Amino acid sequence: MTLFTIDTEKCNRDGICAASCPFALIDMTSKSGFPAPIGIAEERCMNCGHCVSVCLTGALTLKTMGPSDCRPVPKDYGISPEQLEQLYLTRRSIRVFKDKPVPRENLQDLFRLVGHAPSGHNSRVVQWLVIEDAGEIKRLSGLVIQWMREVLEQNPAFGKSMEADILVAAWDRGEDYILHAAPHVVIAHGPLQFKDVYPVRSEFALAMSYLEIAVAAMGIGACWAGFFQAAVQFYPPMNEAIGLPDGHLSYECMMLGYPKYKYQRVPIRSLPPISWR
Ligand SMILES: Cc1cc2nc3c(=O)[nH]c(=O)nc-3n(C[C@H](O)[C@H](O)[C@H](O)COP(=O)(O)O)c2cc1C
Repeated sequence: MTLFTIDTEKCNRDGICAASCPFALIDMTSKSGFPAPIGIAEERCMNCGHCVSVCLTGALTLKTMGPSDCRPVPKDYGISPEQLEQLYLTRRSIRVFKDKPVPRENLQDLFRLVGHAPSGHNSRVVQWLVIEDAGEIKRLSGLVIQWMREVLEQNPAFGKSMEADILVAAWDRGEDYILHAAPHVVIAHGPLQFKDVYPVRSEFALAMSYLEIAVAAMGIGACWAGFFQAAVQFYPPMNEAIGLPDGHLSYECMMLGYPKYKYQRVPIRSLPPISWR
């Protein structure tokens, strides 16, 4: 099978598939007028599926997916602007969780949804680790604290700039302000070599942002674990301690769980500077 086949009974030769292909890999100039892959199409196609997805008549079948494999887009789908505004405004960083785990099926569904996030060159490099063991989560928080103690000793100004003195003091009182004893700690990881590679590098934060918004819509609370991630960046034992596959790095980390408290108001956020040209 070539990169794609056309059902000539269904194809209306409107060229929408060709116009939608990100790399102009579909030729509409053949005598028959049906779409055909250009010579390098097979090699250069990134399998984004737009040609299948956009076809009005379901005439195009890619090697990897046909119209019947793809869920139809409902005619009047959509979230209203009011609903979206409400979701954005009421999402909060949640740091106090109920002692009740989110069922794995729900998390699995969320990861499936997040898999629809944009992905540079459709590379889909993000892998997930979900840590649910309370002892393990505490051990990782403890390691962040260990790093913070070292920072406070060696570079107190830097330590204070990230509130390490306060967080260490809280830890010594028996309170975890690093991973907040969350029922789930989710790590987006991938090969270390993507560390400085755009756009792959961006995908981890993007996937995590999608996850954060998706969980907010489902009554699950989330908070970015930035102190944890900082330790991954500055303290080599940290990444090792997570036990990721060889050569992998934790790119982003988030706490998840059901919120213990309900927020009553939307805090004020000023409009960021915008320039127009
Ligand atoms: C990249 C990133 C890292 C963060 N790291 C932490 C963290 O380690 N601990 C924490 O309590 N909150 C963390 N936060 C949450 C921010 O403090 C929070 O987004 C901010 O105070 C605004 O509150 P809101 O998210 O409820 O609007 C982080 C947020 C981002 C975007």
